[in-house]
Amino acid sequence: MTIQFSTKIFPQADLNSVKALNSSLKSLLAHGSDCLVLAYSKADIDSFGGPKAVKRKAGFLAELDQLLGGSVSHANLLGDLDDKQSSVCILRADKSWAASGVKAKRVLLLGLGDASEHNLTSFSKVVRAGLKALSGGPIENALWFVPSFAQKTELIAEEVRLTIQYAGDQAYRFGVRQPTMKFKAKDKADTFKHLVFAGNNTCAKELKVAVEQGVAMAEGMHLAKDLGNLPPNICTPTYLAKTAQGLSKKVGLKVEVLGRKQIEALGMGSFLSVAQGSETPPQFIVIRHQGGKAGDAPIVLVGKGITFDTGGISLKPGEAMDEMKYDMCGAASVIGTLYAAGLMKLNQNVIGVIPTCENMPSGKATRPGDIVKSMSGQTIEVLNTDAEGRLILCDALTYVERFKPKAVIDIATLTGACVIALGHVHSGLFSEDEDLVRALTKAGKASLDTVWRLPLDAAYHEQLKSNFADVANIGGRPAGSVTAACFLSRFTEKYKWAHLDIAGTAWKSGAAKGSTGRPVPLLVNFLLEQK
Ligand code: BES
Ligand code: MN
Ligand code: ZN
Repeated sequence: MTIQFSTKIFPQADLNSVKALNSSLKSLLAHGSDCLVLAYSKADIDSFGGPKAVKRKAGFLAELDQLLGGSVSHANLLGDLDDKQSSVCILRADKSWAASGVKAKRVLLLGLGDASEHNLTSFSKVVRAGLKALSGGPIENALWFVPSFAQKTELIAEEVRLTIQYAGDQAYRFGVRQPTMKFKAKDKADTFKHLVFAGNNTCAKELKVAVEQGVAMAEGMHLAKDLGNLPPNICTPTYLAKTAQGLSKKVGLKVEVLGRKQIEALGMGSFLSVAQGSETPPQFIVIRHQGGKAGDAPIVLVGKGITFDTGGISLKPGEAMDEMKYDMCGAASVIGTLYAAGLMKLNQNVIGVIPTCENMPSGKATRPGDIVKSMSGQTIEVLNTDAEGRLILCDALTYVERFKPKAVIDIATLTGACVIALGHVHSGLFSEDEDLVRALTKAGKASLDTVWRLPLDAAYHEQLKSNFADVANIGGRPAGSVTAACFLSRFTEKYKWAHLDIAGTAWKSGAAKGSTGRPVPLLVNFLLEQK
């Protein structure tokens, strides 16, 4: 990443203790940062005397005011400091600061608003406002005093990971790792380079761990974004396999790549029927992170890796077809999550499995009406070659039975219908396992990478009936995302399973076109919560 994160502990720093207030602020201000970042609540402003107040009373703002030669009351008089959530006020050093031993060049005061309304969503807004103020100008590093943000200590880890997630998002530029790819001047790296998280004795240990986890997650997101954004002539199945193999050297993941011959030998007739129209060879990638005991059942992540989806013979319309380079974002999120697991030395066994190929029309391509045999033995009537994701995933879902998994989660840009149902806010979640639903929903909320559950009832299976094979690969327009998930569920009877449809959340269209890195934060948070 182009931004660095670290921690620094000020053992006694505590802005809630009247006695420690002066020495706490002094120690933070004595650190020579470009900017010290402190959050304040409405209550802090009230005890300071209220917005635009002339007299200053008590509390941390009053103490700060004294150390900064009246800078806080000056800002307050001008109305720069208010009690609203996400308000941003930068105080700049003058001669009086040096007199009291202040080495910080600026102090950024961030308004939390009414502390009683504090939650992760409001927190994220404040953080984004703060990061924006730090970025794009002369500020290169900042000292971010974590306890001033955390209204509840149990939220520290989540909040720090989220801060890193957003800082990584802001610092992300496509092309940094692809020097051969031309990029525009406005894509120059951010001038803001280093965020130092300051803590005290009560949170020192948690803070260090949370920063390590947050950095690993942000690296994983960064990789997932790069893979998604790369053009489809570069990011081919072989490129995905090479990338995974590269991680094996970097963080000790075990990577195995199967080629066409081996895929044939496994009997993956469904997967191969999608690959057969393309000149580019399919790959089947298995990535292992062995962080738990040898006998521990692994969590298995399966990612859809269509490096370009033309629709095949059921050709898609031309408009915005370029965005079908993003049809490998499920695979990218699996690679990113495994990378994060490796970087943070996660103490569990995780296996990533990626069937990857292109979906192209050609003289060798699958026709609508073809019947193919999946690895499970079930025959499939391919009524629409554009419903290819489920055809490659079903064989991967059969393959993973051999791992005797604790749970299997597949991640796929599976249906346009999911974009219609949920837009770009939530990913679709499908599962009959209540524990998995609960855990994934919770992990989504904790990382603001949210999911919404959709049904899998038996009644929907009716739509997949075929007169000529065990199952058809499409179920008509009604409930298109549900029937796609129902199709997959026929291959998952041997283990606990959940399916994430990320068609609406993996990338953005329009002027801000680009990968979001989702659902890496969700998956990393989910893994961190597994015991
Ligand atoms: N990759 C697409 C799904 C997709 C489309 C994701 C648009 C994001 C935006 C998938 O392979 C597909 O083409 N699905 C079809 C299924 C249909 C033929 C039953 C779809 O959604 O139209
Ligand atoms: Mn398709
Ligand atoms: Zn597709």
